[in-house]
Amino acid sequence: MKIINSIRHMQALAIAPEREGRRIAFVPTMGYLHEGHASLLREGRKRGDVLVLSIFVNPIQFGKNEDLDSYPRDMERDFQLADACGVDIVFIPSAAEMYPHGFQTGVAVRELSQPLCGARRPGHFDGVATVITKLFNIVRPDVALFGCKDFQQLTVIRRMTEDLNMPVEIVGMPIVREADGLALSSRNAYLSPSERQSALCLYHAITKVRELFAAGERSVAVLAREARAVIEGESAAAIDYVEFRDGAQLQEQEQADSSTLLALAVKIGQTRLIDNTVLGEEF
Ligand code: PAF
Repeated sequence: MKIINSIRHMQALAIAPEREGRRIAFVPTMGYLHEGHASLLREGRKRGDVLVLSIFVNPIQFGKNEDLDSYPRDMERDFQLADACGVDIVFIPSAAEMYPHGFQTGVAVRELSQPLCGARRPGHFDGVATVITKLFNIVRPDVALFGCKDFQQLTVIRRMTEDLNMPVEIVGMPIVREADGLALSSRNAYLSPSERQSALCLYHAITKVRELFAAGERSVAVLAREARAVIEGESAAAIDYVEFRDGAQLQEQEQADSSTLLALAVKIGQTRLIDNTVLGEEF
């Protein structure tokens, strides 16, 4: 497994497989890897001849009062997991090289970036779209894999690659959960043992809504009320949003259908967690 820090070096390494017709599979991450990332890497291993992982805590997707400085990091553990998943190249650029003095270009996916997390984290998806564009230009992947836990991120990236004719296939992989239902996230590391218990309210809200939907309930007002009641029953939880949107354009809906996305953002103590489900999809 090669560890590469320089952009030029990474670009040079990406050229040979392209010339030889070998496919590059790419998993972009911010590190502190967990089983969710491992599932992307294993799938990437199957889909590509060369598997590239990037680890870069992207400063331009964090707001002023967010957790950029405290974002969890553990390179040694990340390398072990990457190696076990068959990664060929780990690309770890520096912020100084990614965003040198004078950097001023950005990519914005205008409408899909507005609702949900975009409304609470202004500029977040511009930061994501910009760094993914840069990473795609550096790594030149044939296929890139992202987790469905960041559903809006995946939707934004799909739109961007289509709109800008980027020659890369985007694959969304199912959310990986702990045995008790908590969606895996690097930010779970912030939770105290009691907060870890409280965090289950996201999963319980999702399962409640899915049960009601399966029993025939279609009113978004009713489904939202029930989801909120589950979360509000947990004293450590503060709802950021509970929203029902169509899973393609992220437009608001009054009546749910099988493609409806339930998206949640909830603060547990100081930690903001997100989770989601598409009501008609397997869980
Ligand atoms: O999901 C993440 O870890 C990040 O948003 C990503 C896609 C690596 C971009 O920095």
